[in-house]
Amino acid sequence: MALNRSASWYGGTDRNAYIHRAWMRRGLPPHAFDGRPHIAIANTASDLTPCNTHLNEVAEHVKRGVWEAGGIPLNLPVVSPGETQIRPTAMLWRNLAAMATEEMLRANPIDGVVLLGGCDKTIPALLMAAASVDLPAVVVPGGPMLTGHFRGTALGCGTDVWALSEEVRAGTLSEAEFLRSESSMIRSKGHCNTMGTASTMGLLAEVLGMTLPGLAGTPAPDSRLLEGAHETGRLVVELVAAERRPSTVLTRGSFLNAIVALAALGGSTNAVVHLLAIAGRVGVELTQDDFDRTGSGVPLLVNLQPAGRFLMDDLYRAGGLHAVLEQVRDLLDPEAITVTGRPLVDTLGNTSIHDAEVIRPRRQPLREEAGIAVLYGNLAPDGAVIKPAAASPHLLRHRGPAVVFDSVEDLRARLDDPDLDVTADSVLILRGCGPKGYPGMPEVSNLPLPPKLLAQGVRDMVRICDGRMSGTAYGTVVLHVAPEAAAGGPLAKVRTGDIIVLDVPGRRLDIDLADIDLAAREPAQAAVKAFARPSRGWQRLYVDTVQQANTGADLDFLVGSSGDHEARESH
Ligand code: FES
Ligand code: MG
Repeated sequence: MALNRSASWYGGTDRNAYIHRAWMRRGLPPHAFDGRPHIAIANTASDLTPCNTHLNEVAEHVKRGVWEAGGIPLNLPVVSPGETQIRPTAMLWRNLAAMATEEMLRANPIDGVVLLGGCDKTIPALLMAAASVDLPAVVVPGGPMLTGHFRGTALGCGTDVWALSEEVRAGTLSEAEFLRSESSMIRSKGHCNTMGTASTMGLLAEVLGMTLPGLAGTPAPDSRLLEGAHETGRLVVELVAAERRPSTVLTRGSFLNAIVALAALGGSTNAVVHLLAIAGRVGVELTQDDFDRTGSGVPLLVNLQPAGRFLMDDLYRAGGLHAVLEQVRDLLDPEAITVTGRPLVDTLGNTSIHDAEVIRPRRQPLREEAGIAVLYGNLAPDGAVIKPAAASPHLLRHRGPAVVFDSVEDLRARLDDPDLDVTADSVLILRGCGPKGYPGMPEVSNLPLPPKLLAQGVRDMVRICDGRMSGTAYGTVVLHVAPEAAAGGPLAKVRTGDIIVLDVPGRRLDIDLADIDLAAREPAQAAVKAFARPSRGWQRLYVDTVQQANTGADLDFLVGSSGDHEARESH
């Protein structure tokens, strides 16, 4: 058997090995350095990432499992972008978290890693990092919170914030009532309980093969999460012995499985950007079009907000991820393996549906076709995405005049103006929200509707943006328009009053304007002015090197892998 990687730090009798061992001897016995595996626990617990604060407790249980299997567990706090707290948007820091984690994994004397994430960007960042280092790795998804209730009704994190705040804007809910709901929104530890990005990416981590089978979707306060954490600690020691690395698990087949699951689950559109970025790190050929080709015909089986009614706790009770995957088993690649070494499809076992309201059987789907549709046209030469399952059917083919906003600030300043020239047929366009433009591609694409239309009972309109949308949001929203306005995309050339043609069945998004006329147009001055290149620091590096949404919005120099090799000594 090959010597463990950490032995190149700790083995031998020279001065450097002495230093590496001596400084770690704060209770570790001498046999800790006899060549046994050292396991990092890449831990995104942070009091400022409230969805992940319980991960310190989870880490303790991972440690027990690692000890039990003969390894040495080591807590490694890593950069943790918290979705609700961090400005200007957590997405700006996903690549920073991925880069910093990758470097710390490579630089330290470890042989394998357990990845603890939960809140939206944390699992994607950890998987990107692990893929680029390619050390044996396994994820423990932190799990969703329990369902909170307000006035006797379940509250969906995120989704109901948008819904209730629109009711306030429409005048059908008082501000005082709205504020009363605040203390019921977050019932327990864990991440958002809707099928938002955190739930989606936690579940997809398992579909990709990167978790202990059956663990994803376990609610954060459930004892079984801690049991699974313990078992994961044992598993990672096995992974190191088997030298099973992310590059053997994360194959094209496993990404296509994730795309199938994304559709059946009604998962977040953000998964498109995250899966593309992770694939880029392992060198798997995956494109935005794969989401449409493989996913758009998959039926929606899970009745969770925002596409449906229930919440993550209900999904777990109804049979969980495995019950869903069992329904689409024939669409899954039978060869894609998991960290256990066994194919994903072999880990499903006997899983039946315990509540057919929450998980529909294949023959009675909530919708026949659920996945992401990718649109092209003169407004989105490199593509844009829409989630038809979260959209209004009557708007999927639509023609209407554009009402253009150059930035989020411009939107806030003008949207509530009673004189704004807008009708239910208008197409609201928000630009300046792409990876470079904001910067960081914020979740603002589901722009609120003008109050005067809300008062008329309008609840959805076609909206188009180069940003992202919260996975907890809904509506006929075209997202991730590429290239973005700040990168010179045609979105920068649209003028208020231009006729926009959306044709989701035909997969088109166009300005009704001859290509030659569009080419001759200059970008709007206001759109250019709204973009200011940051003068220094991470934001400068980010804006100068970030790629567009259609390839995952990773930094150009972070695509690919550098492996785990670092030979140079520190002294
Ligand atoms: Fe953390 Fe929603 S804010 S998962
Ligand atoms: Mg989010």
